[in-house]
Amino acid sequence: MSYEKRIALNSDGLTLSRLVLGAWRLLDQGAKPTASEVARLIDEAIDLGLTSFDHADIYGNYGVEAAFGAGLAGWSGKRSSIELITKCDIMLTSAERPDNRVKHYDTSAAHIKASVDRSLKNLHTDYLDVLLLHRPDPLMDADETAEGLQSVVKAGKVRAIGVSNFTPSQIDLLASRLPFPVVTNQIELSVMHSAPLTDGSLDHAQRLRYAPMIWSPLGGGSLFTGTGEQDQRVRNALQTVGDEIGVADISAIAIAWLLRHPARLIPVLGSLKRDRLARMVSALDIKLERQQWFAILKASTGQEVA
Ligand SMILES: NC(=O)c1ccc[n+]([C@@H]2O[C@H](COP(=O)([O-])OP(=O)(O)OC[C@H]3O[C@@H](n4cnc5c(N)ncnc54)[C@H](OP(=O)(O)O)[C@@H]3O)[C@@H](O)[C@H]2O)c1
Repeated sequence: MSYEKRIALNSDGLTLSRLVLGAWRLLDQGAKPTASEVARLIDEAIDLGLTSFDHADIYGNYGVEAAFGAGLAGWSGKRSSIELITKCDIMLTSAERPDNRVKHYDTSAAHIKASVDRSLKNLHTDYLDVLLLHRPDPLMDADETAEGLQSVVKAGKVRAIGVSNFTPSQIDLLASRLPFPVVTNQIELSVMHSAPLTDGSLDHAQRLRYAPMIWSPLGGGSLFTGTGEQDQRVRNALQTVGDEIGVADISAIAIAWLLRHPARLIPVLGSLKRDRLARMVSALDIKLERQQWFAILKASTGQEVA
């Protein structure tokens, strides 16, 4: 048994690798990877089957896209062999954006167009595979936002549009104004944070048949570092299931738990370390039994299902 290695996002041939590499932490703790180190990271990811890379304009205080793009500029592979995902609409207060007096969201057409142009330049590419609206904006004017999104698609700058952290009704609103489907909703879900299993997000995804992308699939690392009761319970449950199926690494079981969901979840992996990534990729060959899955859910919520 093995899960499908790629997931189709639309009917135009756009697919993502089943596990995506998240670039958020590329510049963490003052890291300054050189272009050749980034190019090597891209090659290592591709070797593991991770051909899709998740970005946002804001990552690394507006620095990650450009650092990654410097690597792409000198990389010897073909652009069409990878997929680039990025996001817009969060406006940070930052020396990089002196006009932002308060943290806010901007889903205006003008901002979407300007942000896409900046991302293309930073990433050294002439198209994005997927553009996501990063957070729901209470001032989103659906007609105007849809106009901005359609314009970047029509211009050939973006292949597909998705959202992140949206509720089903926010997705429905945006979709009602677009001539093409919203291809994904990138949401937080993990053995540490299982609320989206029951808040309607995954029902909506199955109903409309889009594959959700999953951020912080290891709880942002708290699976390893957390010291609370839930952390301990979840680690024990993952270990027990791991012992049952002969898998020592709990991160692989945590990813396998996500893959088992019928909504075809696409976990976005946050580590940039090859050996850790390889262990998580091994989850593609682990199909948890129903009762193993529920034992982990019980550890996550602290109670048996009703
Ligand atoms: N749409 C959104 O709003 C949103 C929000 C947050 C994140 N994201 C996306 O989701 C991606 C993943 O998020 P995330 O980084 O929080 O994912 P995560 O996989 O839940 O957490 C990654 C963290 O776990 C640690 N870790 C991984 N394996 C480990 C192991 N075996 N032992 C100990 N520590 C381990 C990593 O440390 P090392 O780095 O040292 O390996 C890293 O600090 C991001 O890169 C970003 O693309 C999106």
